[in-house]
Amino acid sequence: MRWILGTALLASAVFANPALAQDCAITVEGNDQMQFVQKELRVSTSCESITVTLKHVGKLAANVMGHNWVLTATGDFEAVAKDGQTAGTANDFVPPNDARVLAATKVIGGGEETTISFDPSALEPGGDYTFFCSFPPHSVLMNGKLIVE
Ligand code: CU
Repeated sequence: MRWILGTALLASAVFANPALAQDCAITVEGNDQMQFVQKELRVSTSCESITVTLKHVGKLAANVMGHNWVLTATGDFEAVAKDGQTAGTANDFVPPNDARVLAATKVIGGGEETTISFDPSALEPGGDYTFFCSFPPHSVLMNGKLIVE
């Protein structure tokens, strides 16, 4: 019976809402080597909402090897990373009330995970977007492209 239930659940997830199944929920992992496991993520603007789950698959604490997930236009990436450094731990290294920040999670440590949802209407299909960790100085290594379809 178990495989029948599993197959039915999978089928309903894929066919009931193809956009949801493919592009509306993404997972990204950060590790103790100061890296995102995924270098490229893909979302669709047809989603009502995009859910991002950040998992820290390492063991190091948030004050040593903290990770967050911040999304900006690629042209804003380096400036926002710099301003995030100034914003400091109290703001999870994200400049507060900053329109350049399209989405951002809090900072987490090893073994933790966090989820955010955001409205994709601010994203342009085919636009150039970069996601990164703003925990200093991780953005140098921890960055990747968000492909918007
Ligand atoms: Cu990090």
